[in-house]
Amino acid sequence: MGRREPLHGQWSSRIAFIFAATGAAVGLGNIWKFPYITGLNGGGAFVAVYLLFVLAIALPVMMAEVMLGRRGRRNPINAMRLLSEEETGKTRWQIVGWLGVLTGMLILSYYSVIGGWTIDYALRTVSGTFAQTNAAGVREQFAALAASPWRMLLWHTVFMLLTVLVVARGVEQGLEKALKYLMPLLFVLLLVMVGYAMTTGHFMQGLRYMFDFNISELSADGILMAMGQAFFSLSIGMGAIMAYGAYLPEDASIGGTTLSVALMDTTVALLTGIMLFPIVFANGLDPAHGPGLLFLTLPLAFGQMTAGTIFGALFFLLLVFAAWTSSIGLIEPAVARLVEHRQLRRSHATWIIGGIIWLLGLISIFSFNVLRDVRPFGRSLFANLDFFTSNILLPFSGFMIAVFAGWVMCRGSSTEELELGAGNRYSAWRLLIRFVAPVAMLLVSLHALGLLEKFLK
Ligand code: TRP
Repeated sequence: MGRREPLHGQWSSRIAFIFAATGAAVGLGNIWKFPYITGLNGGGAFVAVYLLFVLAIALPVMMAEVMLGRRGRRNPINAMRLLSEEETGKTRWQIVGWLGVLTGMLILSYYSVIGGWTIDYALRTVSGTFAQTNAAGVREQFAALAASPWRMLLWHTVFMLLTVLVVARGVEQGLEKALKYLMPLLFVLLLVMVGYAMTTGHFMQGLRYMFDFNISELSADGILMAMGQAFFSLSIGMGAIMAYGAYLPEDASIGGTTLSVALMDTTVALLTGIMLFPIVFANGLDPAHGPGLLFLTLPLAFGQMTAGTIFGALFFLLLVFAAWTSSIGLIEPAVARLVEHRQLRRSHATWIIGGIIWLLGLISIFSFNVLRDVRPFGRSLFANLDFFTSNILLPFSGFMIAVFAGWVMCRGSSTEELELGAGNRYSAWRLLIRFVAPVAMLLVSLHALGLLEKFLK
């Protein structure tokens, strides 16, 4: 079966795809989540395993997703159904698309709550709350936010409204254009912050924390979290990147484009860690504090540096933008599905899905206060939601994508679509997608569930 023309036009260029995919990839995952789970897992060994997983698992799966999207030229569910029929005569692989719809909604329900924290902190920075603050002060500030369901609800609602308004009108284009200028600016601000971190006197300690390999720090859960984070941060295992791939021009190289996206995403995450941990150590904070880590450290830095109010407000504002573009990618699969299958108007579908996600968000909000003591599996409800989506659902979909792309799809199809040439690059991808990625994902998942040890006995 040959190649298809896209149904809804194409990206103007390969660069447009890179911008859109980077916009989805760079978000709270890089700047809020990466440093806090690095801190929870003791630093260096976690970072090393994360980088390994990005290269050996996430990147080949990302290539597979983009490839399936471009070959199917439809939304993820329909693309998977079509390709599944084409390759196997049955439609059952469309389940990958369905899982993506579900995962995106669940992730957005807590993502929006953290997006709300970011808005709250942007405004507080402008109003001078953090000027001249100290470690005890930021702790108090953060505890006050976490203790207040109403304040969190207000900003969660605002963040969801931002998302729904853009998606309902289908004006993502405008936001993506704005992002072309805002993302480089975010990058520059990160560099400014790294510069500040160098003046704290704890820069080397921070670097050592991030890059010293100490295997004893790493638990089974930590390895699983590193894998989940690789999927989360690159926005893969959801079919979202597949949807973007549907618009990728035929002559764009999938290997090169996905590699640039992964490189930029990883650079932002690493820079965030490099600027954050020195601030943690300089102020005697605990790197393993958890989800509040970003909101404890940055205000301290902004309170102390020159023009900190301006830098701080700008930084949080840019982070809101980065989170906003990601949230659009998280809600889109569900909205697209509802529009196509129930013949609903786009705006109606968006309000319905947005409403459901907003409601689900209450779980995360309450898990920081009124439901703080409800801790199934020894984790808060929020942490369970994150664990289940990032570390179980995303890798599970990733596993199926790898199996489909590597084993079900015939060699001819993937060779034709990937255009990696006849040499080693295609063989390397095929080896990773058929053996390395699925086996590693399976082992890590079994290990995390405590099952591997039982099998080996
Ligand atoms: N990568 C995003 C971040 O780092 C979060 C995310 C996960 C996402 N899956 C996605 C964004 C799918 C858009 C589409 O913040």
